[in-house]
Amino acid sequence: MPIQHPSFGTLADDRIIIFDTTLRDGEQSPGFSMNLEEKLRMAEALAELGVDVMEAGFPIASPGDFESVRAIAERFAKDGPVICGLARTSPADILRAAEAVRPAARKRIHTFVSTSPLHMRVKLRMEPEEVLELVTSSVTLARQHADDVEWSAEDGSRTEPDFLCRCVEAAIKAGATTINIPDTVGYALPEDMARIFTMIRERVPGADQVVLSAHNHNDLGLAVANTLAAIRAGVRQVESTINGIGERAGNASLEEVVMALRTRRDALPYRNNIHTPHILRTSRLLATITGFDVQPNKAIVGRNAFAHESGIHQDGVLKDKSTYEIMTPESVGWSTSSLVMGKHSGRAAFRDKLKALGYEGIGDNQLNDAFRRFKDLADRKKVVYDEDIVALVDDEVIRQHDRVRLAALTVATGLGTRPTATLALEVDGARAEGVATGDGAVDATFNAIRQAFPHEATLKLFSVQSVTEGTDAQARVTVRLEENGKMVDGQGADSDTIVASARAYVHALNKLLVKRLRTEPPAALRA
Ligand code: KIV
Ligand code: ZN
Repeated sequence: MPIQHPSFGTLADDRIIIFDTTLRDGEQSPGFSMNLEEKLRMAEALAELGVDVMEAGFPIASPGDFESVRAIAERFAKDGPVICGLARTSPADILRAAEAVRPAARKRIHTFVSTSPLHMRVKLRMEPEEVLELVTSSVTLARQHADDVEWSAEDGSRTEPDFLCRCVEAAIKAGATTINIPDTVGYALPEDMARIFTMIRERVPGADQVVLSAHNHNDLGLAVANTLAAIRAGVRQVESTINGIGERAGNASLEEVVMALRTRRDALPYRNNIHTPHILRTSRLLATITGFDVQPNKAIVGRNAFAHESGIHQDGVLKDKSTYEIMTPESVGWSTSSLVMGKHSGRAAFRDKLKALGYEGIGDNQLNDAFRRFKDLADRKKVVYDEDIVALVDDEVIRQHDRVRLAALTVATGLGTRPTATLALEVDGARAEGVATGDGAVDATFNAIRQAFPHEATLKLFSVQSVTEGTDAQARVTVRLEENGKMVDGQGADSDTIVASARAYVHALNKLLVKRLRTEPPAALRA
């Protein structure tokens, strides 16, 4: 009998629900915290990508987390993906999650508790029977506030099988509509995950009437393989993140799972609602927001994912792409770099271009700022590619709400002269100026920023990449700052490497300001 789900109605047997946890588990990775505007921007992109469920955060963790889940729920008050808030078992947690997701048209409360012997003894200091009671009480309370309730067995893959079945049964009886068995520590092998889900389906009454879900961490690099094995064993919800971000080595990467399903439909005959041509821009947006690029050889979205270097491969691809390409670059959003517009292009053409690149909801102010920067770029650069526009718009749009902004920068440098940077920032709307020398143009610029906006953070990393090819290509710079053990990465793009460096430094500063305000969840809250 097909599953009747409160959020999805009658679920076809071959339907896979894509649950995205970029904004919760992903955001928990060190250095990946996002502010409210960044989370909203990311939430829009995830909705456009077509995720079914968006875990927007852990509302009890901090007032900032609550506000962002609430804001995302308000954003999707009429329709959109199911908005989910995470909660432990305590009533305070569950009520906070319920309150945060309330405005959403479709909402879910996700409650979890550890079930492995190790976690119960060391972390919870509870007996199994006490944990079992918590399963019932937490799911029962959650169901009083949402029809759609997910229950997770934290460290499920290391849980004693009989006890796991009893917990799942209790959660189903209390009203859970999705049962998630995480491989919290990334320890399982594909056959372990297959065995666990097969066991649940065979042994737990009611398991055929709920959605089973997989949530795999990548400590052994097996998160995607484990997820696919779980699907074959009957799982119909996949929990994953863009670029595979998440605690420690991260979660199963959404783009890899989705493209494995699409490319290997012969072996994995399942359907999902992801609009795959949006994958690359969602991945890039996340990289720009967080300041963490994916590695060049990252499957699907890495710079080299579709690059053919060896002569034999190039020859093959020229004759027939399928010799070395198992999916088309276009199917995940890569386009052959195309000349877009020149300096004479108008605002309407620019807006159309943004639409074509997937930026639907850009407001007039943001459009004006992005257009001004586009004109400036078109003046300086011979050809403007799609990639340039994406870098520029991401850079501009997501920084709308930054407290510190780069207002002006001039650097005097040359052979035999010590470079001097003269710079102006806008800090909460007020102008602050700095003039400084340095061991190079970048060093002078960073010293001038420190003068205009004094702070204690130290520079830990500085790296430059080019967005496209050629000497007039835009530079994308990453700057890592550390303050009191907190690490943030900032990014900036510009055809002038020094300006891109200043933007990246200022972006990192803004992220530090958010970090300072934000109460870090206690370690026990980090799942
Ligand atoms: O990894 C984990 O166990 C989790 C749960 C909270 C689902 O993130
Ligand atoms: Zn997790």
